[in-house]
Amino acid sequence: MENRFLFLRRHVMFTLCTLYQPPLNNTQNISIPEGISKFNNIHYLCSKFNPMEDNYQLITKTAAGLEDVLVREIKALGAKNVRPMHRAVICEGNKELMYRINYEVRTALKVLKPFKTFTAKNDDELYKKVQEINWCELLRTDQTFCIDAVTSGRFFTHSQYASLRMKDAIVDQFRDVYGIRPNINTLNPDLRISLHIREDKVTLLFDSSGESLHHRGYRKQVDKAPMNEVLAAGLIQLTGWKADCNFLDCMCGSGTLPIEAAMYAMKIPPGYYRKQWGFMKWDDYDAELWQRIRQEADEKICDFDYEIWASDRSPKAVAIAEGNINYAHLQHDIHLMKKDMHDLTPPEGGGIVIINPPYGDRLEEDDIDQLYEEIGHTLKHNFQGFQCWLITDDAVALRHVGLKPTAKIPVWNGPLECRFVRFDIFEGSLKDKKAREAEDNN
Ligand SMILES: C[S@@+](CC[C@H](N)C(=O)[O-])C[C@H]1O[C@@H](n2cnc3c(N)ncnc32)[C@H](O)[C@@H]1O
Repeated sequence: MENRFLFLRRHVMFTLCTLYQPPLNNTQNISIPEGISKFNNIHYLCSKFNPMEDNYQLITKTAAGLEDVLVREIKALGAKNVRPMHRAVICEGNKELMYRINYEVRTALKVLKPFKTFTAKNDDELYKKVQEINWCELLRTDQTFCIDAVTSGRFFTHSQYASLRMKDAIVDQFRDVYGIRPNINTLNPDLRISLHIREDKVTLLFDSSGESLHHRGYRKQVDKAPMNEVLAAGLIQLTGWKADCNFLDCMCGSGTLPIEAAMYAMKIPPGYYRKQWGFMKWDDYDAELWQRIRQEADEKICDFDYEIWASDRSPKAVAIAEGNINYAHLQHDIHLMKKDMHDLTPPEGGGIVIINPPYGDRLEEDDIDQLYEEIGHTLKHNFQGFQCWLITDDAVALRHVGLKPTAKIPVWNGPLECRFVRFDIFEGSLKDKKAREAEDNN
């Protein structure tokens, strides 16, 4: 049997004949008709494009709160018709852009390529519509697959059940045709499929990333409550830091923020340490194009003229951070210390500080309010001239910092709704600063 998955000519023919409306001119900017909600954009826009053409829609997923950063990153790669969605960005793209986002975009979690849209109002309809797809053209019986489902709306209330029905439809088709079926592998499948349902609108997408892109490959060990690498990269960009001053994280845990800061400052691509992507198992995998994209991105790696400091009071955290920093070959670029934040003398010249203190129910602190009070005191007295940012989900503890925030950005750390809060620590009082600024303006 010679079934191959993805993008073969016969698949193109099959798909064109059976699945899609006639393709639109892919370069045109499609306007979304009134009545199509933001959440149905994915279904609507994907139904208007033909993924077998050179240009198609790409959906890039991210964490809630980072959509605008992701839009900027994707636009910087030259993508067209880039639109923010909820926890995702949709844009027009092709294979080259799909590879580039996978390798170069710091706030991307997944890059998905839509291949089929239809409507279904119940499990049986879903099963029937999935069976209409010729899966034997997409998968071989000796290959593995898995389905990640996201459902919302009235008709499909259990995402796991929807993915099970879709799985049944696929394996039943194989059993009927060959008497055997491809197996499920949730960790490292040959084909990862994303099932997206909003109300009765179903979109099936191929997952070109495979394992989520926050798995950069440099974090060999983690301490308690490690930050997601994509969130860390997003927070760094949300501060507006342009790698034009020092960077400090004085509660660095496993070292995620300083490592992401160093990668950002030195233009080390986020995929630099990673080895596997989902599209590498696709039949249309273009190793030459992939090599070229990596080489072009790697050629931009540069030096950083300021300092990156990482410290933590826990010896275990510092040992883990050291291992990760060494693995990323950043030991000469990140100055790592075991220090209580309150004993740290920051570098001359000011800079930016990002702190991810203990919060949520993942870390037990004896007195969280006191910890935040001490953070505020230390920032005020030891970090003059610094722009300090703190992420927390604990609104009560945050008040104990005792400093007036100059910005508050809502972001999500996994299931936790957080605030990313900025404090500008001036030399002298705010009144002195305003007087100095007034003088400068005269
Ligand atoms: C939520 S974890 C940080 C996780 C880190 N962002 C990462 O990605 O792994 C909080 C860290 O704050 C550290 N910490 C708590 N109080 C501290 C203090 N007073 N000085 C320095 N580190 C402190 C803890 O040891 C812990 O590693």
